Amino acid sequence: MRPIRIALTKGRLEKRSVELFESIGFDCAQLINKGRRLILPMDDYQVVLAKAADVITYVEHGACDIGIVGKDTIAEAGSAFYEMLDLGFGKCRFALAALKGSDFYDGYHERVVASKYPKVAKQFFEKKGMDVRVIKIEGSVELAPLLGLAHAIVDIVETGSTIRENGLEVIEEIMPISARVIVNRASMKLRREEIEQLLKDMEIAVQV
Ligand code: PRP
Repeated sequence: MRPIRIALTKGRLEKRSVELFESIGFDCAQLINKGRRLILPMDDYQVVLAKAADVITYVEHGACDIGIVGKDTIAEAGSAFYEMLDLGFGKCRFALAALKGSDFYDGYHERVVASKYPKVAKQFFEKKGMDVRVIKIEGSVELAPLLGLAHAIVDIVETGSTIRENGLEVIEEIMPISARVIVNRASMKLRREEIEQLLKDMEIAVQV
C-alpha cells in the first residue's frame, strides 16, 4: 500500500503546518529543505505541496488522503470530503468592505461586488435577498472599488492593513476562517485506523 499522502497548502499555511508536524515529532527535514520539490517524504507519510483549491481537488479525487486547507477555500470550492478538524491557525475572516464613508446599502441601484470568492459572495447576498452582481477578481481585490469597478468587495481580512491602507472599511463580517483538516471519503473507510491516529496526534498538538 502506498504511504498516506497529505496535501499541504503552499504559502500562508505552510509554515504553521510544518511546525504542527514537527511538534507531533515527525522528521520534517526534507520538507523544510525542499528546494523546488513538490512531493516530500515525512516519516511514513508523503507530503504534497499545492495551491489551496488544488489541495481540495486532490483530496476529493483520492490522489491525496488528507489535506490542510483554509475554510475560505472550502467554502468556495468544495464539499465532497470530510472536514475533520479545525487547526485553529491561519485565522482571519470573510468580510464585506467598501470605500470609507460610502453607504453600500443606500438606494435602489444595482450593486456590483468584486471577489476572489464569487460563490461565498453570492450566497451572502442571497441570504439577504439582495440581487447583487458579482465580478470575479484573482487577487488584490481591494483595487476594484478604488478603480470604480465595484461598489464593494467580499474578501479575506486578517490584520485589516490592506483594507485600511487603501481607504476601505469593513461593513460587515461574514464568516470566521481558519485552517482545517480534510479527509478523502474512501480513505476514511479504507485506512481508518492510520488516519484516525494522525488526526488524534494533530488534535493534541494544536491544543498544546
Ligand atoms: C489577502 C486578502 C487581502 C489581504 C488581507 O490577500 O485578499 O488582500 O490578504 O490581509 P490583511 O487584512 O492582513 O491586510 P493575499 O495576500 O493572499 O494576496 P492576493 O490579494 O494577491 O490574493
